[in-house]
Parts: sequence; C-alpha cells; structure tokens
Amino acid sequence: MEPDGRLDAAAFHRNHEAIWAVLDGFLRDKTGNVFEAGSGTGQHVVTFARLSPQIEWWPSDFNEAHLKSIAAWRVYTQLANVHAPQKVDLSDPAWCLGVRDNGGPPDVLAVFCANVIHIAPWRVAEGLFAGAARYLRPDGRLFLYGPFKRGGKHSALSNAVFDTSLRNGNPEWGVRDIDDLEKLADSVGLRLIESVEMPANNLILEFARV
Ligand SMILES: C[S@@+](CC[C@H](N)C(=O)[O-])C[C@H]1O[C@@H](n2cnc3c(N)ncnc32)[C@H](O)[C@@H]1O
Repeated sequence: MEPDGRLDAAAFHRNHEAIWAVLDGFLRDKTGNVFEAGSGTGQHVVTFARLSPQIEWWPSDFNEAHLKSIAAWRVYTQLANVHAPQKVDLSDPAWCLGVRDNGGPPDVLAVFCANVIHIAPWRVAEGLFAGAARYLRPDGRLFLYGPFKRGGKHSALSNAVFDTSLRNGNPEWGVRDIDDLEKLADSVGLRLIESVEMPANNLILEFARV
C-alpha cells in the first residue's frame, strides 16, 4: 500500500487491457455515466477514465480500505471525469447511487463489475442486477467480468479448482453459472446479448434491456 492508501492489485495489470478493449467498443462515440460496482483498488476506474474523457465514471465499493484506495487513486490521477467513490453494498437490493446537483440519480450508460459476484454471496449478484435494471438507460449495458461456468460445467480445470477453494473458504461464494445469471437477468428485464472470451479463462458478459 502507498502511504496515501492507494492499493495495487496484481490482477489489474493482467486484465485491464483486455477488459478495456470490450468496454471501449461500446463506450466509444457515446457520452454518459458509467457506474462501477465493487471497484476494489480503483485502478480500473482511473485507467478507463483516462482513456474516455467523454464519460463520467462513478466508482463504488463497500469495503473501507477499498473506498480509501479508490479516493487516493482519484486524487493521485486528478481526473476530472472520476466522481468520488460511493459506499454501495450490493447485497442491499435497494442500493442507491449518489444524486447529481439537480437532485436526481445519474442516468447510467453502463454498469461495470469485475471479479465481484463469485467472491460474494448470491444476493450480491441479485442486488447488482436489480440496481442495473433500476439505473440503466434504455440503451444501457451491464458488463460483468470474471470466471463463469455454463450448464454446471467449468470451462477450465483452473476455474474448477478456484471454485472449490472459494466454496471451501465460504460456502456462499463460488463461480457463478451463466444459466443462473440469465434467469436472474430475465427476472429484472435484462438479457445476455454477448459473451466475450478474456485471457485466463475469464469472460465478459454483456447484458442489455429486453
Ligand atoms: C476481487 S475484488 C475485485 C475488485 C475490482 N473490481 C477488480 O477487479 O480489481 C472484489 C470486490 O468486491 C467488493 N465487494 C464484495 N462484496 C460487496 C458488496 N456486497 N457490495 C459492494 N462491493 C462488494 C470487495 O470489497 C472488493 O473490492
């Protein structure tokens, strides 16, 4: 940790370029707000904000050390298009985004969430989808990055091993099944429109309004 509280996640250095290639494909030539759920260190949000000055980025987390790190990266990078981190607990289905100067919540072009829903109880996925459905504008997207299984099957042995270790540490955690996520999306008026392969057997799942 840096003295100002900035944290550095090893995974960020491995995945941010591949993630940005997908996000950029959607965000390029658009303006609006992108909400990041479970921002962790804050490295993704400042890196992506630097590459998209036309987008306003809204980081969040529920962990105090991570909120401090996000705030420190924001000060360190001095990016005008990164808002102060908000404390959002995704396990609360009624979680709220901070209000704008006009008193209303921002309309959200995209929700981005990386490596969160497998390291959390299922109700976090439920809360994430509920909030995305509440805040996304009609042409908005939810982007989920991480390891996923399909039809109960892992795409790689390494993901199966990872899943077992997660569940051993906390029975409520675990690599999520795309079939369950599609059902969850359906229950809130979203649908899976794209699945993009990422390095190291990860995926980006892209959901849009039905
Ligand atoms: C593995 S880290 C990923 C962080 C970041 N997205 C990344 O890819 O580097 C998981 C993050 O999810 C956050 N998280 C876990 N449960 C959460 C919840 N209920 N609400 C909000 N954030 C949560 C943790 O605090 C942590 O920052």
